[in-house]
Amino acid sequence: MIEKKLINNGKKVDKFLLSYIKKQEKSLLINPMKYGVISGGKKIRSTIIIDTGKIFNISQKRLINICASVECIHSYSLIHDDLPCMDDDKFRRGKPSTHMKFGEASAVLAGNSLLTLAFEIISNKNYQINSKIKNEIIRSLAFCSGHTGIAGGQELDLKFEGKKKTLNNILIMQKKKTGKLFGFCLYAVGAIANKNEKEKKNLIILGEQIGLLFQIADDFLDFKGSTKQLGKLTRKDSKKGKSTLIDLLGYKKAYNYANILKKKILLKLKKHGKKAKDLSETIEFILERNF
Ligand code: IPE
Ligand code: IPE
Ligand code: MG
Ligand code: MG
Ligand code: MG
Repeated sequence: MIEKKLINNGKKVDKFLLSYIKKQEKSLLINPMKYGVISGGKKIRSTIIIDTGKIFNISQKRLINICASVECIHSYSLIHDDLPCMDDDKFRRGKPSTHMKFGEASAVLAGNSLLTLAFEIISNKNYQINSKIKNEIIRSLAFCSGHTGIAGGQELDLKFEGKKKTLNNILIMQKKKTGKLFGFCLYAVGAIANKNEKEKKNLIILGEQIGLLFQIADDFLDFKGSTKQLGKLTRKDSKKGKSTLIDLLGYKKAYNYANILKKKILLKLKKHGKKAKDLSETIEFILERNF
């Protein structure tokens, strides 16, 4: 059921991205960009955007630009995350990482280009949403992607390697590198649905909690998952001395922490009743998944 939902959403976003790129001027970077972004991947962030749309009665059509932008930023962050100067990972999504296939320089530039493409896609004049809301969404996406978001979190992740960090240090790092973009996913839907400031703030917090849960689960999969199912090499975090909850607390306690976090998230969704069924199902999947 959830697998089907992910595949369907993935197909729609890939189709949108392909046709968007097709309309652009050709360049040498198109192939590494496509390789990095339209290359499988669960499209969990797009799914969360669409699930949140169900809560606020916003159609998929009005959210597709947001989904595509978020997938561009996410894929850019993975292309760079795999570089030798970062996690040095040679496999991603069941195939050689972008830098293994196209070389490091092209991978860096394709990553940069996906980051900027995200902003083109949202600011495009054919994406017809209220211009004040559009501006607010663009500003938030910038904030979640740069040094106050993904990039800043990735810097902490690398600086924490081989160090004993506190629970709070690790949570802050994971919320930045992964949580912020999930926060944006929920926030953008709330903005399009014209929610008030307090409601949007709560959506950001909820999204960040979902992102944190997602990152903790990603760390569990590195610890006990299968390379074949994940499409990336496993058991690398401990070798690199990554600061994770598993490293700090051990698997069992880390799992308990994640399970409590999952319950907190599900409790917050209760007030939306049946409309939150899809999002709740995706949250359950996030912790129990094996890919
Ligand atoms: C992996 O993200 C990196 C993290 C932020 C944990 P995903 O697990 O969403 O990667 P894909 O898109 O499915 O490959
Ligand atoms: C990546 O976290 C987080 C990003 C924001 C890119 P990881 O380094 O754990 O992701 P994987 O395990 O390589 O997919
Ligand atoms: Mg990393
Ligand atoms: Mg990595
Ligand atoms: Mg990982």
